[in-house]
Amino acid sequence: MKQSINPARPSCLKVQILGISYARSGNFFHLYLEPTPWESRPGQFVMLRPQGWDNDPIWPRPFSICEKNDDSLRIFIQIVGRGTGLISRLQPGSTLHIWGPLGNGFQFSPDMPLLILAGGMGIAPFVGLCKSHPNPELIRFIFGHRMDIGCYPFAELPPASSRIHLQQTGQADIFDFQRLLRQEIEDCPAGSRILACGPTPFLKVVQEYARESVKDAWMSLENKMACGVGACLGCVTMTSSGDYVQTCSHGPVFRAEDVVFEE
Ligand SMILES: Cc1cc2nc3c(=O)[nH]c(=O)nc-3n(C[C@H](O)[C@H](O)[C@H](O)COP(=O)(O)OP(=O)(O)OC[C@H]3O[C@@H](n4cnc5c(N)ncnc54)[C@H](O)[C@@H]3O)c2cc1C
Ligand code: FES
Repeated sequence: MKQSINPARPSCLKVQILGISYARSGNFFHLYLEPTPWESRPGQFVMLRPQGWDNDPIWPRPFSICEKNDDSLRIFIQIVGRGTGLISRLQPGSTLHIWGPLGNGFQFSPDMPLLILAGGMGIAPFVGLCKSHPNPELIRFIFGHRMDIGCYPFAELPPASSRIHLQQTGQADIFDFQRLLRQEIEDCPAGSRILACGPTPFLKVVQEYARESVKDAWMSLENKMACGVGACLGCVTMTSSGDYVQTCSHGPVFRAEDVVFEE
């Protein structure tokens, strides 16, 4: 990759896959890409399109930046359809087009206590955040998941942070998880910030409890995206002002109280 770019601005690069490692279940994998010269924030994302894709699928696919360091840029992916299935079958040395870093990302200061709430693949944007945080003891991490915990990079979170995970295999577990979320949000001390990412039903619950106990909560939405840069209007979210905004360019991170989840 020999491209002169401004690291502060999004750019489109061609990068090679350095490695792919599969998690315990075959439906999850970690993609390690050549390092990119970007200055990115946790919660920002990339659009990926393997070089060999013709017209099916046409559009690139959005993924959170899971972790970024001098050696690689890592994406954690669950196979859910054609695009993710095709990406999972690529080999080291294959080339991808990657647009990024996109979106706004999470804002916080290093001395601020964080309550991180993640559901399923919502863990992805928080892995690098927690591992590179200068004060991991300020992080409380609550993770709800359906598949075996070994499928997710939960064990990588720094032991100095306090971490709880709860697997949901039935309705009773979902209620337990909701009770836990409500308690954690209520107990979250003044001056701390809640960061959340996960499926929409989970985010709705977080929004409701944060509103009840008037907490400073931010959430990353995972709307379907096509262009990723605000042009196609395919990813809009309604905000509390009544306006529709592009999730890719105005988000994906929003203040919880600003999001209107439509039925
Ligand atoms: C900002 C952002 C960050 C994301 N980060 C990650 C990540 O780190 N890791 C990861 O595995 N996935 C992530 N996703 C979701 C990922 O983009 C989709 O799973 C992927 O685009 C599906 O592509 P596909 O071609 O395999 O599935 P398709 O064949 O297009 O669809 C298969 C199924 O997946 C559902 N689906 C498609 N797009 C989404 C979506 N955005 N959210 C939820 N369900 C969807 C479809 O409704 C359908 O049921 C993120 C999405 C966004 C918007
Ligand atoms: S994905 Fe095109 S406007 Fe957001």
